[in-house]
Amino acid sequence: MSLLNSCPVSRPGVSTMYRFSIFTLLLALGFSPDAIGAPATPPAHRFEIGQADFILDGQRLQIRCGEMHFARVPREYWAHRLRAIKAMGLNTVCAYLFWNYHEWEEGKFDWQNQRDAAEFCRLAQQEGLWVILRPGPYACAEWEMGGLPWWLLKQPGDDFLRTRDPRFMEPACRWLSEVGRVLGPLQITRGGPIIMVQVENEYGYFGQDADYMRAMRQAVLDAGFTVPLFACNPTSEVVRSSLPGLFSVANFGSAPEAGFKALAEVQHGPPMCGEFYPGWFDTWGSPHRRGDTPAVLRDLDYMLKVNGSFSLYMAHGGTTFGLWGGCDRPFRPDTSSYDYDAPISEAGWVGEKFAQFRAVIKPYLLPGETLPEPPDPMPVIAIPAFTLTQSAPVLANLPTAAIDDVSPHPIETYGISRGLIAYRTTVPAGPAGTLQVNRVRDLAWVFLDGQPVGAMDIRVRGTTVTLPARAKPVTLEVLVYTIARVNFGIEVHDRKGLHGPVRFRPEGGTPFALENWQIRAIDFGADATLPKLTWRDGPATGPAFWRGTFEVAAPGDTFLDVAKWGTGIVWVNGHCLGRYWNIGPTQTMYLPAPWLKRGVNEIVILDLNGPEQPSIAGVKVPVLDHLRPEMNPEPLPRHNRGKLQLSGLAPSFEGRFAPGIAPQEIHFAKTETARQFCLESIDAFDGREYAAVAELSLFDADGKTMNQSAWTIAYADSEEMAKGECSADNAINGQAADFWHTEWSAVKPPHPHRLIIDLGASVRVSGFRYTPRQGAADAGGRIKNFRVYLGEQLVSPSK
Ligand code: GLA
Repeated sequence: MSLLNSCPVSRPGVSTMYRFSIFTLLLALGFSPDAIGAPATPPAHRFEIGQADFILDGQRLQIRCGEMHFARVPREYWAHRLRAIKAMGLNTVCAYLFWNYHEWEEGKFDWQNQRDAAEFCRLAQQEGLWVILRPGPYACAEWEMGGLPWWLLKQPGDDFLRTRDPRFMEPACRWLSEVGRVLGPLQITRGGPIIMVQVENEYGYFGQDADYMRAMRQAVLDAGFTVPLFACNPTSEVVRSSLPGLFSVANFGSAPEAGFKALAEVQHGPPMCGEFYPGWFDTWGSPHRRGDTPAVLRDLDYMLKVNGSFSLYMAHGGTTFGLWGGCDRPFRPDTSSYDYDAPISEAGWVGEKFAQFRAVIKPYLLPGETLPEPPDPMPVIAIPAFTLTQSAPVLANLPTAAIDDVSPHPIETYGISRGLIAYRTTVPAGPAGTLQVNRVRDLAWVFLDGQPVGAMDIRVRGTTVTLPARAKPVTLEVLVYTIARVNFGIEVHDRKGLHGPVRFRPEGGTPFALENWQIRAIDFGADATLPKLTWRDGPATGPAFWRGTFEVAAPGDTFLDVAKWGTGIVWVNGHCLGRYWNIGPTQTMYLPAPWLKRGVNEIVILDLNGPEQPSIAGVKVPVLDHLRPEMNPEPLPRHNRGKLQLSGLAPSFEGRFAPGIAPQEIHFAKTETARQFCLESIDAFDGREYAAVAELSLFDADGKTMNQSAWTIAYADSEEMAKGECSADNAINGQAADFWHTEWSAVKPPHPHRLIIDLGASVRVSGFRYTPRQGAADAGGRIKNFRVYLGEQLVSPSK
């Protein structure tokens, strides 16, 4: 597939500067601006990327940028947050556009209200901030499917997203040209605040098809963007993934020297960090994460000192309202709070951390540049506890209309985007036995004639339920609750629902497929609009919606305390606040004042498991750090419970990794079939007893990177969880900025350390890619000598 037909109107190789002088020349020759598509009014400002500096109106500009997602902040508060960003000492705001947020239905674009990106840019300009735009098509950002629209998954296949496959390229180019239509006029070249536009997002983590990136760049150019374009990649991928002629920035949370060094290897130009992490995101069921602020401030000062530019990811995280939260792979859904331990908190509060950032930045202001005071915080209120007195069971409120299918298929096949999907069929009379489904995403509750008989939880690979003996044929209903589509890696091909066949194995009998299903869905769609429900007074058991009302004298921001509820979704006055899950770490939900009314307000809560008590209150302080693993229906397996089965086994490979942070590929002499992969550390480069791994990926028989969606960590001898979230899951979640690290605070177990991945099935393995812990040169745990074991069962299942 050649480059030229990957997007309809390709015009390769017209550089920004070259394009600019053409305009000036044609204008001089008396052509009207419109005739040649030149900016009507001469641009008030001019921005370029120089040999060593960013240049604004001929002057050096050090970009001090902060990321904020307008989709994660109530529109009424955009200006407030932008003012805080300015007051922190930043001169630019960086914003993703999430494709699926603006095109949840194919061909229907929405830029209204909360989606009004143009208004957000105009407000930024009014607050004296430049804008860096990141339109995707892929974003990541702990956002549903990384920003890609679910309807792409109506097409079959697990490897066409983010490639030059027309099934992806055509809609992606259509999206980018739509972005050009809406935001093109807000470029600095046309009097607006947009100074740079990013092409794709960290593509180096995903693939190495340079023509794909060229096609994406061309699509952004064809969409009418004339400002400088750039690409971002983590430090570990900059050298391998940079595209000649496309400016590169490096993403990192530490070791800025290494990041800037990598950039210098691929280009002349001002060093810039595209994502500098002052904190990190949280996932349900894992400890709350905070940044190492002293180290972050040291690195920030270093970047400023060496004339480096940066973008804080996140300056203000906000909240992932609605159902827009993403999911870390293999299945660690992101919390609704996106506080991110950012200098500006979820509710827009500025505190000590903010002041520290402002203090570090202040000495680097340009002569005459001053900082405004940060805006006052929004008023906060408490709402006394009240009870939700009405309920509507989910099964009783399913639509009557059903889709028929011989065997269950993922929801996208039926044009269902997300929500609650009930798969119903009949099980004949007969002995007890095991119901076995091929795959369920994400959580499912199983009923026989309306009575609960079990549940399936993807986190424990739960795909079986025992069914009792039946004297007569019974109705089987599998109610699936979709949580979030994975936002990273090839696993973004994350189809939800029940993946058939579904089989029943009677005790002592022959398994048979259950057929002829009716599928009913409550599709929450783009904005999680509440379906029409039949309410009744009194409580419900099992999956149900609950409703209540409460009075508010004077609206103010508040945090709903959802700790007494199980897992589900909350709506206030029709606004979908987001998901909650009592396993934590987040136990409150940010409820912004603009969504409250003076007088009577209505709340609706969907709870799949049912509340301890159907009451709720509004509190003045958020709870972001309260894990409750005991709330899991069944305890999740601890990684170090199983019994190792390595003795007497010959390693499939023995070797020594190279020092440093660069990813390393190991290719085995011969491909082996295995269900489990074990990496064993013999020692580490720093001579200490720790082992750490940022990322592990495996190669299949053709040397291609394997899809990890069926993987789980089967065993890790040690994980530091007290002084950091260094779980072994970090080694397979795709993010090199976090990592698995063995214990160092309470105890220091010695090498050998073992990490065992269960691949979900026996597969051919020809090698692996190891990304060492990133960060400072003296960071601990970088493995030196190692062994690899492959086998069907390298550890007995943990109890
Ligand atoms: C990456 C992505 C961002 C975000 C951060 C983690 O670097 O580019 O979108 O996912 O990681 O928060």
